[in-house]
Amino acid sequence: MFIPIFLLTILFFALITGGQPPPLRGYLINCGSKTDIQQDGITYTKDDGYTVAGNLTTLNRHDILPVLTTLRYFPYGPGKHCYEFPVTKGAKFLIRTTYFYGGFDGGNEPPIFDQIIDGTTWGTVNTTEDYKNGLSSYYEIIVAANDRTISVCWACNEHTKSPASPFISSLEVMDLDSSLYNSTDFEKYGLITVARANFASESNFVRFPDDPFNRYWQPFIDGNPTVEAHANVTSSEFWNRPPAKVFISGSTTSRGKNLSIQWPPFSVPTNRYYVALYFQDNRSTSPYSWRVFTVLIDGETFYQDLNVTTKGVTVYGTEWPLSGDTHITLTPRSDMPVGPTINAGEVYQILPLAGATLGRDVMAMQIFKQSLRNPPDDWNGDPCLPKEHPWLGIGCSEEEQVRVTSLNLKGLSLIGTLPKEIARLTALKEFRLSNNKLTGPIPDLSPLKGLEILQLDENEFEGPFPDGLDTLPNLREL
Ligand SMILES: *[C@@H]1O[C@H](CO)[C@@H](O)[C@H](O)[C@H]1NC(C)=O
Ligand SMILES: *[C@@H]1O[C@H](CO)[C@@H](O)[C@H](O)[C@H]1NC(C)=O
Ligand SMILES: *[C@@H]1O[C@H](CO)[C@@H](O)[C@H](O)[C@H]1NC(C)=O
Ligand SMILES: *[C@@H]1O[C@H](CO)[C@@H](O)[C@H](O)[C@H]1NC(C)=O
Ligand SMILES: *[C@@H]1O[C@H](CO)[C@@H](O)[C@H](O)[C@H]1NC(C)=O
Ligand SMILES: *[C@@H]1O[C@H](CO)[C@@H](O)[C@H](O)[C@H]1NC(C)=O
Ligand SMILES: *[C@@H]1O[C@H](CO)[C@@H](O)[C@H](O)[C@H]1NC(C)=O
Repeated sequence: MFIPIFLLTILFFALITGGQPPPLRGYLINCGSKTDIQQDGITYTKDDGYTVAGNLTTLNRHDILPVLTTLRYFPYGPGKHCYEFPVTKGAKFLIRTTYFYGGFDGGNEPPIFDQIIDGTTWGTVNTTEDYKNGLSSYYEIIVAANDRTISVCWACNEHTKSPASPFISSLEVMDLDSSLYNSTDFEKYGLITVARANFASESNFVRFPDDPFNRYWQPFIDGNPTVEAHANVTSSEFWNRPPAKVFISGSTTSRGKNLSIQWPPFSVPTNRYYVALYFQDNRSTSPYSWRVFTVLIDGETFYQDLNVTTKGVTVYGTEWPLSGDTHITLTPRSDMPVGPTINAGEVYQILPLAGATLGRDVMAMQIFKQSLRNPPDDWNGDPCLPKEHPWLGIGCSEEEQVRVTSLNLKGLSLIGTLPKEIARLTALKEFRLSNNKLTGPIPDLSPLKGLEILQLDENEFEGPFPDGLDTLPNLREL
């Protein structure tokens, strides 16, 4: 799957100074670090406790942002490696992954690999171009928690050249208020950030604390005239809570003319997108201070006769088709004494989610994992999904309701016990555990009615062999 590349510099941010902003809610992680650090008024914590996978390293450079100097990498191999965050089920998050290769493995080319959100492949991480230009790269996605944890994972793909290792420099999981982007059905979709712009701005990114969710609004400037607004916008009156600061600058054109903008400033793959645009009349409040114009995207009417006032207004499309270059045209109503104006915009690619393994199976596997002293180190995130990257030794059904159908854990030297909850994996057909160091009793496996193959030999189980195995209708190998 190809994902639009959304790669920007964050190497040269101005430091934020001034009053006490409200705290940022969420997890802000400085990956690979052994200490917490401060950057731009935000505390980035060490990643202890959120992941057990991979190795830490520090770049031998002092000219880069503190958050980029350490990273965690996951040595080349199969399986996915995850960070897991406890969250409130149903809550919505903006997740940002930031990458700066810095030659940590002694090479010249950054590795290419996949990033994964819960059970869904989010996209390919390719930081080659940015790295060549001396920049770091970031990717963002908005998702809702379908369970009480959210996992962000990395895995090798067909472009990962052995022995290159997937890596991550910083990971942010920002809590979004429920009204943000709420026209999207987050049980089915995620929103991948394609572009978020502050039009006609020449300054730095607008972000925290101006944006309480630390969204990055990039400055975008083209050949159109610019205006500066003087009135105030109340951010909380907009469901998406755009920061008031992005309304200050706007692109405009003279009276009677169309305003035409090519944005996002790169071509996008054919897909459906969530598009939100933000406008404000720049003039001081008066009974006549509004502007009416029609918004077109690629020649199609996006909104007819939009009345833009000094209080600001937004229009959005939840599933707007885009392909290649995107042209936004604002056509003033013929009686307007002023030209149209635009202040900010957001474009997200709609990502269908791959779903999740049946919760009961996930729970059973979690309990099994906890009963092992040395579970395989890729046993993180969703057990079955994405289907290219299930947990080591696990086979799953491909039906709509994904279930664990086989466990092939022969010879992994597993130490621990077999919990009784394993019998909740009622779709299990094959269960091979030979040649491990499992101890304790063998639990009652009689609920596993579909079981065809059961291999428990070469372990250190104690106690009697449980009853009921002879009643399993499909068992053909024991
Ligand atoms: C990574 O960590 C593992 C265990 O924590 C260790 O066995 C391995 O040698 C490390 N790899 C490298 C390249 O440092
Ligand atoms: C990664 O990006 C570079 C530079 O843009 C490009 O040349 C290369 O084809 C990309 N690789 C993959 C696998 O997408
Ligand atoms: C989105 O949130 C706003 C503000 O809370 C609310 O008025 C609106 O009904 C919500 N829309 C949907 C589709 O849930
Ligand atoms: C904007 O808001 C600030 C603080 O609320 C106020 O001092 C200022 O007068 C307002 N400006 C306008 C043009 O309304
Ligand atoms: C402005 O755009 C409208 C709608 O696309 C088009 O009909 C009109 O000809 C354009 N006007 C000018 C002056 O380009
Ligand atoms: C508002 O924008 C118009 C152009 O659309 C410009 O001519 C005018 O000077 C601006 N007014 C203020 C107060 O900046
Ligand atoms: C635009 O909105 C303002 C404020 O809601 C209203 O007073 C005005 O009549 C509207 N103008 C048009 C042309 O619809």
